[in-house]
Amino acid sequence: MEGGLPGRLWSWGFGLFFVRKAGYPAAMNQDDMKKAAAQAALEFVPVGGVIGVGTGSTANYFIDYLATIKGRFDGAVASSIATAERLKKHGIPVFDLNEAGSLTVYVDGADETTIHRALIKGGGGALTREKIVAAASRSFVCIADEGKLVDVLGRFPLPIEVIPMARSLVAREIVTLGGEPVLRQGFQTDNGNVILDVHGLKILDPVALEERLNNITGVVTNGLFARRGADILLLGTKQGVRRLP
Ligand code: 5RP
Repeated sequence: MEGGLPGRLWSWGFGLFFVRKAGYPAAMNQDDMKKAAAQAALEFVPVGGVIGVGTGSTANYFIDYLATIKGRFDGAVASSIATAERLKKHGIPVFDLNEAGSLTVYVDGADETTIHRALIKGGGGALTREKIVAAASRSFVCIADEGKLVDVLGRFPLPIEVIPMARSLVAREIVTLGGEPVLRQGFQTDNGNVILDVHGLKILDPVALEERLNNITGVVTNGLFARRGADILLLGTKQGVRRLP
């Protein structure tokens, strides 16, 4: 259909258009779409300053692209130990958030996103540090493949980081909210806590649920990023990278 013409415009419903850049593969798989979104985020890395970097496979692609422009910015704050190690391996300076102060931009993936840029995150278990780094950043650029876009959040089990001794208490509270909590087996967060993955939620009001869950004693963070969702969403699609808004 597309014939691989560089720079050609493709429509994709609702009058939205994409530019297929030269070299954009004709047959994109999920990884290609993650890479395309990750590469597109480079344009949001300012000259100078410290940026925040997320966790997961899409964030890993971003880190690898970031290494190609590492002279442009001063360094990064990592949202996990794994991300800090990958950044350091590329020779990118890693700062403690307390020393770095306010960050220019935070770039991270997501497990689900709505068109309004409310997210579920935490599939990799790094949700608490991700939320902290996002909160410390002036702008949050979310990078994801098109498979992450949903009408209603909740098909992906919602991760909740919990203090270990409150695991059963929190699980019982979640059941009263209509969720089915499942302990993530053999997993400990970078903060020494456990994760409950909550199945069966249809999240029609993500802001309200985020606040409700945060009020359960023993919850450290939940994976809803709705009160502070992404400012910009870069969605890798088969047609090109779709930017919202
Ligand atoms: C980690 C996360 C990730 O951003 C999320 O799980 C998406 O991962 P991937 O980019 O591998 O699909 O929230 O805690």
